[in-house]
Amino acid sequence: MYGMINRAVQGLVLDRHGEETWARIRTMAKVEETEFLSMEQYPDETTYRLVAASSEVLGVPAEEILEAFGEYWIEYTAEAGYGEIMLAAGRTLPEFLANLDQLHTRIRFGMPHLRPPSFSVSEAEDGTLTLRYVSERRGLAPLVVGLVKGLARRFGERVDIDRIAERSDERPYDEFRIVRHAPAEST
Ligand code: HEM
Repeated sequence: MYGMINRAVQGLVLDRHGEETWARIRTMAKVEETEFLSMEQYPDETTYRLVAASSEVLGVPAEEILEAFGEYWIEYTAEAGYGEIMLAAGRTLPEFLANLDQLHTRIRFGMPHLRPPSFSVSEAEDGTLTLRYVSERRGLAPLVVGLVKGLARRFGERVDIDRIAERSDERPYDEFRIVRHAPAEST
């Protein structure tokens, strides 16, 4: 994956836990780089190792690390030069989710080797959303949960999100149900 992902993992750990914790995670993950270059490609394995080592060092399940990273990513990208692309992707949660593939297609202009996931969304009459996620990678569904929560926050909404179908040999996708709640009254 492009180094931007690992850079953001590093940013999250540094923000919340500091240099010393990051150094321990880096050592445990056997990662030699002290910095990642956003536009350079690194083996997916590097990212998976960083997540596993973060889980070990911080004592929380890898799923929680991925979810926290997903939420962080929404703010990170908006501030890391992708604010315009984020704005263009939509002004509401359903609109944004429907445009995710287009968003990654735009990112591919700058990152020609991007291997992005693919999403499709449908909206029921009661406003519940069903999000389908297809990826060539394994184990990243908790990341999607965090990403959707981060997007909901971006739009001032709160959501409950559950995985309703898990990818398997017969089913090439994960599926999530997203229940939207009215934004909190501002005081
Ligand atoms: C402007 C904002 C964004 C940028 C710059 C960006 C960029 C990237 C990059 C560089 C990767 C790694 C893939 C690779 O290197 O081959 C990636 C993967 C991914 N992106 Fe985005 N992305 C953005 C927004 C989003 C949003 C809003 C979502 C919400 C669902 C999302 C979902 C994912 C997922 C789930 C992956 C993991 C790869 C996989 O499932 O195979 N991205 N993205």
